[in-house]
Amino acid sequence: MARRTRVLLKAGVWAVGLGPIAFLLWRAWAGSLTANPISFVTNTLGDWTLRLLLACLAMTPLRILSGWAWPVSLRRLLGLFAFVYAAIHFSVWIVLDHFFDWGTMGADIVKRPYVTVGMLALTLLVPLAATSTAGMIRRLGSRAWRRLHALVYAIGVLAVLHYLWLAKKGVQDPYWYAAALALLLGVRLWDRVRRLAARRRAPLGEAALAVEPVGRSRSST
Ligand code: HEM
Repeated sequence: MARRTRVLLKAGVWAVGLGPIAFLLWRAWAGSLTANPISFVTNTLGDWTLRLLLACLAMTPLRILSGWAWPVSLRRLLGLFAFVYAAIHFSVWIVLDHFFDWGTMGADIVKRPYVTVGMLALTLLVPLAATSTAGMIRRLGSRAWRRLHALVYAIGVLAVLHYLWLAKKGVQDPYWYAAALALLLGVRLWDRVRRLAARRRAPLGEAALAVEPVGRSRSST
């Protein structure tokens, strides 16, 4: 892919990543954070954490289905933005929702399943964010690094559960996110199964060539 296109795609991710924060700052400056500003800010940040996480999870299925290599180059940035949004979402909960009342926060984590799974998702995101650099991939070795980063699927499931469990009756959005996640995981599973089948069929050495990304013939960039 041309360098210019790569730069443009990354700039697009930065714009999507910074946009919601700019939107919240603008609403705060204009004094229009709704009648319940804490809830509005918490929910906006939560929504964008989930969207960025799913966007990050969508990059590999997109590569599998299209054969394009570029989606994978955006995965790290999307994942880091998801982590930053989760951290701010959590900070708003600590500072504005509970005002550092560690006792009620601890009780919430134990008593409310949606807080428990949200906490777990955020905790699991920390090692992924901390090992997202090229230096850490080298230090861990690519096999161990890939195993660790497979946690992102569990995080996706926990994040969707968090939303499903906190949403009020009749709210449809969490089901749409759950369907999107199921689709993304389904593509990964299907790809794994066809790779295993190809490996079983093909003699040693040819197996690697047997499974091409579905859309490889269109373009490899
Ligand atoms: C990866 C981690 C997380 C994701 C993806 C996430 C996502 C979300 C989403 C999508 C919402 C609902 C937004 C809406 O209704 O429009 C939400 C709300 C909320 N989240 Fe999270 N969240 C995460 C972590 C956490 C953590 C760690 C906490 C606190 C310990 C937390 C506390 C809350 C609270 C208090 C609400 C508002 C509930 C309400 O409206 O009553 N979240 N989050």
